[in-house]
Order: sequence, then structure tokens, then C-alpha cells
Amino acid sequence: MEQRTPLIAGNWKMFKTGPEAADYARRLLALLSGGTAGVEAMIAPPFTALSAVADLLAGSPVALGAQNLHPEKQGAFTGEISAPMLVAAGCRYVLVGHSERRQLFGETDEGVRLKITAALEAGLDPVLCIGETATEREAGRTFSVLDNQLKNGLEGLIPDRLRKLVIAYEPVWAIGTGKTASSAQTQEAHAYIRSQIAEGVEIALSKSIRILYGGSVKAENIAELMSMPDVDGALVGGASLDPDTFSRIVLYQRPW
Ligand code: 13P
Repeated sequence: MEQRTPLIAGNWKMFKTGPEAADYARRLLALLSGGTAGVEAMIAPPFTALSAVADLLAGSPVALGAQNLHPEKQGAFTGEISAPMLVAAGCRYVLVGHSERRQLFGETDEGVRLKITAALEAGLDPVLCIGETATEREAGRTFSVLDNQLKNGLEGLIPDRLRKLVIAYEPVWAIGTGKTASSAQTQEAHAYIRSQIAEGVEIALSKSIRILYGGSVKAENIAELMSMPDVDGALVGGASLDPDTFSRIVLYQRPW
């Protein structure tokens, strides 16, 4: 079986100032100083906290990510941040198409595709977030929603450009609700996503691409989720805000 390095990522959303983020980073690095057993960690603070943690994290097992980007390199786009700006701020990853951006800020699959293209061009590893709502799941539309988000989000991008892409399956009904998808539901969705990548993009890419699960991940449920063959990591929201809790999720292989 293909070896995929597990990635445990923290999406801080709109939480923490620069000084709070620096304090967090110091504490997290201390907690992970014994090593991460082959697991890669990443935190995605708000834009204003990126520079406060970039130097602290450089050379550590914790990578830096941003939560969003604008598809243009520069221009008259008041309030926006471009991919080259994120690279210069020390980011390696960037989240694209998070359900909160889709639902609250009108982000479309077309916009997502432009952002993925811009991220890859600048040398960032995009984390494409997809997932169905409760209504869509109840209507039996989970697979078709995932299929559409994948197809439209990746349309026209050649496999060679997508080697660094990460996918995060985040069922909207599981985000911030305390209602985690079961490991069986997660595995089913991840296997489906992998099969769609094999069919629509490339078999080799389907084997190497990392698919993370997001939605009420906690220290208590990470090990079971990670035991599923197609789960390659997690995108953690609320439980990533405390370095103790997040470090326990990163170190999920350790018995506590
Ligand atoms: P929670 O872990 O708080 O449910 O958030 C998940 C999420 O949206 C990560 O991107």
C-alpha cells in the first residue's frame, strides 16, 4: 500500500491575536519536542498572526498554513491576501473552499478552482475542503455533492500539477456540532473521493493524495478515525485552539 504521511492540521478560524498565537506556538513546540512519530502537523492561524509564528515554527515538525487566499497575485482588491504574500509570510499550506467560506462568503466551485490554481502556481500546498450538508446527506446526495465539488474544483488541472494537493472531507453537519461522522461514514466518503480521483484525474494520484477528515475531531476520536485505511489525517477546528489538546491529537498513536 502507498505510504502517505499523516497530516494533522489545525484550522483556527477567527481566533487568536499575534501574541496569543506566538504563545500557543511555543507551547505546542514544547509539547511536541519528543517528536511526532512520523506525523506532520500544521496550524492555520488568521492572517494577522502568521508572521508572529512563522519564525518560531521554521524547521519544526509544525508547518504553517493560511485559511484563504485571493486568486490574483496582486491588484486593487481591498482586504484580500494573495498566494505570493502567504509564501513570503512563511506559509506552506492554504485552505481552500472551507464550508464556512462557501456558506457565509458565497465562495463557488469556480472560485475554488482559481484559488487552487493560484496556490499551486505560487508553490503553496492547497487543502481543498469539500463536504455535504445534513439535508444533502438525508436526501442521499452525499456522493453527488462530493463528486461535483471535486470535478468543478479541479477541472482542467493536470495530474502533475496536483501532486501537492490535499483534500479535506468535512461534512458540514459535523463541523462545530460535536457530532463526528462515524468511522464507517468517514471511510465510505474517503474511499469514494479516492475512487473519483482515480477515475477523473489519475490512478497514481488517487493512491498518493492525502485525504483528511474534519468535523468535531477530538483527542478522544482521532485514533479510531485514523485507523480507517483511507483517512490520512484530520482538519481540526475547535480542538486545535488549545495546544495541549491539539498536541494530543497530533500524538494520537501514543497511549495516554
Ligand atoms: P470543528 O473541529 O470545530 O468541528 O471544525 C472543523 C473545521 O471546520 C475544520 O476546518
